[in-house]
Amino acid sequence: SDPDRPEPGEYDVVVVSNRLPVDRVEEPDGSVSWRSSPGGLVAALEPFMRRTDGAWVGWSGAPGDAPEPFDEHDMHLVGVPLSEGEVAEYYEGFSNATLWPLYHDVIAPPVFHRRWWDVYVQVNRRFAEAAARQASQGATVWVHDYQLQLVPGMLREIRPDLRIGFFDHIPFPGYEIFAQLPWRRQVVEGLLGADLLGFQRGADAANFLRACRRAAGLRTSGSTVRAGDRTVTARAFPISIDTPGFGDLARRDDVQARAKEIREALGDPRHLLLGVDRLDYTKGILHRLKAFGELLDDGRLDVHDTVLVQVASPSRERVEQYQALRDEVEATVGRINGDHGELGHQPVHYLHHSYPKEEMAALYLAADVMLVTSLRDGMNLVAKEFVACRHDETGALVLSEFTGAADELGGAFLINPHDIQGVKDTIVRAVESGEREQRRRMRTMRKRVREHDVSRWASDFLGALDAAGGARDDAGAP
Ligand code: G6P
Repeated sequence: SDPDRPEPGEYDVVVVSNRLPVDRVEEPDGSVSWRSSPGGLVAALEPFMRRTDGAWVGWSGAPGDAPEPFDEHDMHLVGVPLSEGEVAEYYEGFSNATLWPLYHDVIAPPVFHRRWWDVYVQVNRRFAEAAARQASQGATVWVHDYQLQLVPGMLREIRPDLRIGFFDHIPFPGYEIFAQLPWRRQVVEGLLGADLLGFQRGADAANFLRACRRAAGLRTSGSTVRAGDRTVTARAFPISIDTPGFGDLARRDDVQARAKEIREALGDPRHLLLGVDRLDYTKGILHRLKAFGELLDDGRLDVHDTVLVQVASPSRERVEQYQALRDEVEATVGRINGDHGELGHQPVHYLHHSYPKEEMAALYLAADVMLVTSLRDGMNLVAKEFVACRHDETGALVLSEFTGAADELGGAFLINPHDIQGVKDTIVRAVESGEREQRRRMRTMRKRVREHDVSRWASDFLGALDAAGGARDDAGAP
């Protein structure tokens, strides 16, 4: 057989993402095993995986050997190993210190290193080869996110029989910003290996199509781009959450009891404000703290009846900009609590942890006002999770315009996080909003997340992928 044309594998649907949906579990005897950690994507894809033979290809999250392939939740999990050097240069370097800040409108300056690019190419090839080994003849392969933008093109080269979809979970920047990337043409061409490219917002798809014209000199027409003899479609498929799952969680007695307990532990404040983010500079945590601190300074919020709970889950802790952000956030929290706290009472409760979804649901239920102040955010699922949990239709969502979610959640109190005065005024309006206004706003938002949940997102995307690849059913047939 031709060494460049590997034998097809046995799976009709293959998902490829940087991270596998598993957690590493260390047993008391020191042995290591892997337990699947069903996040939103897994929940979304489960029905498809159950109907077909599905495999998921990704990294375990730890350097060194990959776990042995194993079956869980009706799918076959296949680990891709990354060495320590590759974690530093492909994951922490090119993915999270070059692409991440670049694609989020250079909130932090992106770092360009030729060596990181080389390792990004090398690791993308490994993912493509691993996917090619799993995919059956004519299978559908769905590649996810900015860490793997070269995989569609590489995969098409080794397996022209495949139907390939790609979904970008983060923003796609305007061309003036994207053009900074020394490898902009290679990235565009890598993505164009797909039959269908999904983005969070229409604006992201439009930015990508413009990059096709400007960086690769290609012709576009509507939402399609002509790439050689193929036509590639690029359009918006806004991602969502497992709405019924969160709804059920929030109705559980133990979760509701926990929500009450949380409020009691905080001294039963009149106003409980909540922020929940990965500790990332895109989330606008400092802007939020600044606004909150000033509202206490001004006396527009009373420290005796207002508490802000800020959950900041640890993220990418070896990347310099994340370390700097953590120091700044913690200094700011310390300053606000030092200025306004009293014995037995502090205005900001800062938690540098991640929590299971039961605790998250309890926090969403306990809160009066949810603060989402991202400077740039592909979607922001926290906003949707909060809404999905509020079955009594109370509570207010303060939401940055610069999130994908703002396109869908018109019932939110929208803010420009750079406009601190506006953020302050809007927080006060949200805090003081009455039950009627809250219900009116919450009802429209709940309708949206009910009708557009993550399983609809997945079936919309896969349906469109089926149609997009339809013209090339014979390609690559033996
Ligand atoms: C964002 C990205 C995901 C990523 C997640 C967590 O949501 O779009 O691809 O998995 O952040 O970041 P991490 O670097 O820990 O995987």
